[in-house]
Amino acid sequence: MDRIAIIGGAQLNGEIPISGAKNSAIKLMAASLLTDEPLRLTNMPRLADTAFLGKLLHRLGAQVDERDGPDGAETVLHTREIVSTIASYDLVRQMRASFNVLGPLIARAGQAKVSLPGGCTIGARPVDLHLQALEALGAKIDLHEGYVYAQAPRGLRGAEITFPFVSVGATEHAMLAAVLAEGTTVLHNAACEPELVDLEQCLNAMGAKVWGAGTPTITITGVAKLHGATHSVIPDRIEMGTYAVAAAMAGGEVRLTKARPDLIDSLLAKLEEAGAGVTRTADGVIIKRNGARLDAVDLETQPYPGFATDLQAQFMALMTTAKGESRIRETIFENRFMHAPELMRLGADISVSGGEARVRGVETLEGAEVMATDLRASVSLVIAGLVARGETVVSRIYHLDRGFERLEEKLGACGAQVRRISGGDESED
Ligand code: EPZ
Repeated sequence: MDRIAIIGGAQLNGEIPISGAKNSAIKLMAASLLTDEPLRLTNMPRLADTAFLGKLLHRLGAQVDERDGPDGAETVLHTREIVSTIASYDLVRQMRASFNVLGPLIARAGQAKVSLPGGCTIGARPVDLHLQALEALGAKIDLHEGYVYAQAPRGLRGAEITFPFVSVGATEHAMLAAVLAEGTTVLHNAACEPELVDLEQCLNAMGAKVWGAGTPTITITGVAKLHGATHSVIPDRIEMGTYAVAAAMAGGEVRLTKARPDLIDSLLAKLEEAGAGVTRTADGVIIKRNGARLDAVDLETQPYPGFATDLQAQFMALMTTAKGESRIRETIFENRFMHAPELMRLGADISVSGGEARVRGVETLEGAEVMATDLRASVSLVIAGLVARGETVVSRIYHLDRGFERLEEKLGACGAQVRRISGGDESED
């Protein structure tokens, strides 16, 4: 199993191009099931998660063609016919977003059998809101032996759906199912994340009628059929935020390009509050820090446009060497502080109580062997390693490969001493 070794102390100087968003790409790939014509997705990230979903979609009948286009990596997905309506536990367990094929399968094929995803390291993560939305759209849902059996032989019907709290996945899932339903669907208390806007734009390019994504009310008028389209995946705001934090941590000056800084205003405001230099440019942002230690700042994760939970671990790493005490409250997931004990192995002073972590900044961290527990936690350890004295070795980096494209290359190009160690210690699992 691969590991990543970082020798701390180097400043970061240079440019990092931001890839297409993982969390958008995988929903757009699922949308390809809704039409018998090809969906061409450009600005695609090449990640373990997109490769994995490609395999699942292939089993369902999609022809998946990954290729280099004029603007970089692209994927063409073409499902002439649905050949299977089953997504097994084996697949959904490995990547919970696979569950989002359920809605498109019901919408296009009238039935599906999809495994429940189960819990994961950041929390219980139930799918009750997804199922309630699909039921409201007229799907008959039965749960047996860990599987969702869904039926809508005469198609789905538009409905008014009010989510009791904001869920990105359930909003996307309802949108994916409602585009082919008969009549109009209105989603109230919808998630406002930029990935929803990207999904709306892609679905509309395919002939759907969706309005309001990016606001709490989304209206969808069902159409009988969708067609093929070309759509460029939105830049990854979490990858951009991660490298912004890395630059603020290591010091130096890093220009993030092919990016949308307007999508991470809440993070950039916190970086400025902590004392980092933030300059917005036409296609991204420049992050700068010379000399002085950053100040500790408090934060609370919130649905968009609040501070993203997917950047909480990285910001905690940044606060480990800031001046003063930072209070970090996690409000989206109940168990998303697994990185704290690993950061403490590097010398960080952190105490966690319920949903709040207190980080008392220390002058220096010290390299050690640490273990990644989830995607964003693993990159927080790499960020801490950038300033830790000596060598930090992060194991279980298959988590990292799920969501960060060519991380060693991108950081290395800016002067970080980061290398991948292939194979290695089998005892790590
Ligand atoms: C998406 O997860 C992202 N994943 C997550 O990114 C991200 O952290 C999260 O949104 C919040 O922004 C993908 O897009 C693939 P939710 P999702 O439904 O859709 C509870 C990463 O690192 N809930 O908004 O699963 C849930 O348990 C990942 O890239 C229910 O109770 O998040 C959580 O506490 C991690 N019932 C809260 O709602 C439901 O039916 C918000 O979850 C659905 C959710």
